[in-house]
Amino acid sequence: MAVPDGIVTNDDLSATLDTTDEWIFERTGIRERRVGGSAGSLGLAAATAALADAGLAATDIDFVLLATTTPDNLIPATAPTIAANLGIRAPAMDLNAACSGFMYALRVAEGLTATGVGRILVIGAENLSRWTDWNDRTMAVLLGDGAGACVVEASTGPSDVLAFDLGSEGDYAHLLSCEHGGTIWMDGKEVFRRAVRIMVDSAERAMSQAQVSADQLSLVIPHQANIRIIQAACQRLGVPMERAVVVLDRYGNTSSASIPLAVADARSQQRVHPGDLVLMTGFGAGMTWASAVVRWSK
Ligand code: UT7
Repeated sequence: MAVPDGIVTNDDLSATLDTTDEWIFERTGIRERRVGGSAGSLGLAAATAALADAGLAATDIDFVLLATTTPDNLIPATAPTIAANLGIRAPAMDLNAACSGFMYALRVAEGLTATGVGRILVIGAENLSRWTDWNDRTMAVLLGDGAGACVVEASTGPSDVLAFDLGSEGDYAHLLSCEHGGTIWMDGKEVFRRAVRIMVDSAERAMSQAQVSADQLSLVIPHQANIRIIQAACQRLGVPMERAVVVLDRYGNTSSASIPLAVADARSQQRVHPGDLVLMTGFGAGMTWASAVVRWSK
């Protein structure tokens, strides 16, 4: 993972906006967020860390997938630049499924392995601060910058990915959007309402497909939008909050980076072990959603 050094606390925001640390923390669970860098620079740092952690070199990577809603430019995609900076000359492309982006990228990576691609570097990186109206208290308190990355590898035995559930409902595109050159806007209440239902339904479909029950899950790694969404979803799924990974208190909502940031946190806290069953689930603008049940390998 990688996050910029710049920390913006709730108190920092309340110095310029009509808000308070108490409101932000109670309504969202966020204490502070990181601000700075770019999808390219943060993605590169996270990818470098992932390669080191996996003990792999640039030449071991056959494909680079970057999930982002905030690419450095409209053209070209940011992934080829990250790949070049790593010394990788393999295919590289961006993918945008908003906050579900990292999960969508994992799904594409799994599909690529089925076509004979050996190792895929999957990155989620966001620079949401660039598209945030810092005078809009309804959005500024929620968003942050960051990146996470992993390497997906084809295996000869049964897949460690037991099930995926992905979907979209474009009829609700208007609920969360950002026009070219504009700033991010959201109907927070409506997104909240739909998010809980979407996450629970999607997670249940993935669990049913994987034939895994809630009590068998060692960990739930949800998209980090709002602690109340995570609490409501966990309650409906029958998973105690102690088994949910929460990093939004430190990073806010980092869209495509939020699930890999939470994965990195769970690993650093030694909360996942080989053989554990883990549910990852997210939702976002589009609206899109994606869940996976995986068996942790290492
Ligand atoms: O990544 C996927 C997309 N993101 C999400 O999933 C976020 C989903 N939505 C949410 O997390 C919540 O809806 C929010 C955190 C955005 C808002 O929480 P809420 O409990 O739905 O609050 P609200 O919008 O109903 O606003 C309640 C009050 C309003 O005042 P009135 O009308 O009751 O007088 C707002 O104007 O709180 C006010 N308010 C604030 N007050 C202090 C809104 N933002 C703030 C703020 N500080 N930052």
